[in-house]
Amino acid sequence: MTILITGGAGYIGSHTCVELLNNGETIIVVDNFSNSKPEALNRVQQITGKTFRIYDADLLDKKQLREIFLENEDIDAVIHFAGLKAVGESVAVPLSYYRNNINGTLVLCEVMQEFTVKNLVFSSSATVYGATDQVPITENSPLGSTNPYGRTKVMIEQILGDIAFADPDWSIASLRYFNPVGAHESGLIGEDPHGIPNNLMPFISQVAVGKREELHIFGREYNTRDGTGVRDYIHVVDLAKGHLKALEKVTAMKGMDAYNLGTGKGLSVLEMVMAFENAANKTIPFRFTEPRPGDVAVCYADPSKAGSQLGWQAERGPEAMCKDTWRWQRNNPSGYDRKTLTVYKEKTPRHEPVEFFNS
Ligand code: NAD
Ligand code: WQD
Repeated sequence: MTILITGGAGYIGSHTCVELLNNGETIIVVDNFSNSKPEALNRVQQITGKTFRIYDADLLDKKQLREIFLENEDIDAVIHFAGLKAVGESVAVPLSYYRNNINGTLVLCEVMQEFTVKNLVFSSSATVYGATDQVPITENSPLGSTNPYGRTKVMIEQILGDIAFADPDWSIASLRYFNPVGAHESGLIGEDPHGIPNNLMPFISQVAVGKREELHIFGREYNTRDGTGVRDYIHVVDLAKGHLKALEKVTAMKGMDAYNLGTGKGLSVLEMVMAFENAANKTIPFRFTEPRPGDVAVCYADPSKAGSQLGWQAERGPEAMCKDTWRWQRNNPSGYDRKTLTVYKEKTPRHEPVEFFNS
């Protein structure tokens, strides 16, 4: 199959590119590199020994996206990762989030419709369940979100549902990720947040590598085993493999459906810190601070629908999550180091695809 991947240079996208290439699929990546670096795709090529087309393009640019579809007539399906994802930032600049995430998806779907490509896998999030205290969370839990980022995901799911209802040729899987962590076992690709990490795992690993002094644990009086927040951490490689299963589903079925991708097991912040300390053989200094506004005490998935309907389940536990994160962080203390960044200039005509080769 030929799969177009929006946001393929990002954290989850790059790991999914690896799994798709290893599975013998042809991929085409579209990314504007607003939150990623081209080097990530260089590394994907290094891991798999395969090349693929990369377009430095913005989903909001419909003309450019149409040209990409014109040049690649054989696209069977799209995996749509591209979007902005920082909860706090979305509260500060909601318009950017609505424009990028909603309009980007609208433009993508319009172009897909025009070119009769109607198989789509969408990156949704457990954030669509809002501040529910009912766990484990099934796909039938009520939707609603507490911040603009989460609302873009809820709205996009509604838009996709309407598209699939209006035209029964569409086939759409919305994958609701819980807390993606970890890295590819090669240590070549992983999460590379800009600035101070918002999420727990990259913060812990930056403390371990000496980039940050100590972890702040947000809250110690939650109604949980040890008083700290509990989440369903899912290894990014397991998550990536879930996309291959979802692709099988969308190419075989019609309509739209949503699936939780999580392990079904909750781990507390302190349990994650301990797992990381064991994996890295390091002490992670931390101190307790106030709870973070908007955080819930406990959140974990009921992943049984993905098990029964996609044939997918998570295989990797906290040890692999932490070991792989640590290997990536230790090998790449500055992430995709700017010094090794490879800049791929667009040629004339402007949208000629660029093949990646190892530099
Ligand atoms: P990421 O930021 O690493 O990757 C997103 C990619 O999309 C980046 O490479 C970015 O440059 C690109 N992009 C953004 N807007 C674009 C646009 N208009 N045109 C072209 N490219 C654009 O994020 P990620 O962690 O890999 O997340 C991928 C998807 O999964 C996102 O939609 C995110 O909301 C969703 N998600 C992520 C998490 C998480 O914790 N990482 C959890 C649940 C859902
Ligand atoms: C996990 C736990 C924190 C950082 C977020 C988004 C969600 C989804 C996944 C995109 C919580 C605690 C964290 C720190 C801490 N993303 N923590 N110190 O909040 O469950 O989910 O990422 O869709 O939408 O909201 O993940 O990693 O930020 O937090 O104590 O420095 O770690 O309080 O209990 P979260 P997280």
